[in-house]
Amino acid sequence: MELLEGLLTRRSVRQFAADKKVSKKDIEEILKAASYAPSAHNKQPWEFVVIEEPEKLAGFRTVQPWTSFAKNASCVIVVCGNTDESFHREKENETWNFADVDCSLAAQNILLACHAKGLGACFCGAAPMPLVIDGVRKYLNLPENIRPLAIIPIGYPAESPKQPENRYNPAKVHWENW
Ligand SMILES: Cc1cc2nc3c(=O)[nH]c(=O)nc-3n(C[C@H](O)[C@H](O)[C@H](O)COP(=O)(O)O)c2cc1C
Repeated sequence: MELLEGLLTRRSVRQFAADKKVSKKDIEEILKAASYAPSAHNKQPWEFVVIEEPEKLAGFRTVQPWTSFAKNASCVIVVCGNTDESFHREKENETWNFADVDCSLAAQNILLACHAKGLGACFCGAAPMPLVIDGVRKYLNLPENIRPLAIIPIGYPAESPKQPENRYNPAKVHWENW
């Protein structure tokens, strides 16, 4: 698949073929694609938790209510940021951390790699929702410095989501100045 075509045709998939497992080789290639994402200061602060156990997949809805369809996925990849290793600053007049941004870029690579392989996937949010962050931390036994950013159910698609009308709106583009 050509890259630009893939960017335009990727859609969130929430229905998966129950009987088809995504291979470990595919999961590893998807995670390799994630690891080539850009990151602030090239810190690559991501960590990935891969879940395949059916009961654990079904339980995601207890910590993030809009992930109920994860129960039919072949696996879930939780993209997390290591907030100690990410490019960050903590001073009295300046506090910031690029972990969420870096992990968002890694997550998009996961979605696109799935699409390129004919797999379906959907980004489900965790950070910055404090209750979801806490819930996922407890659910997966994550340390305090590991911040879950995305819960991504993956599987062979059992639906073909409608492609949208043109999403490009030239009125949102501001040349030279607002
Ligand atoms: C930050 C973020 C959080 C999202 N959380 C959820 C979610 O919890 N559950 C879900 O089904 N979809 C979730 N989505 C997917 C969006 O609903 C989806 O990307 C949007 O409707 C556009 O559709 P498309 O991905 O097919 O282009 C999320 C997407 C983003 C970027």
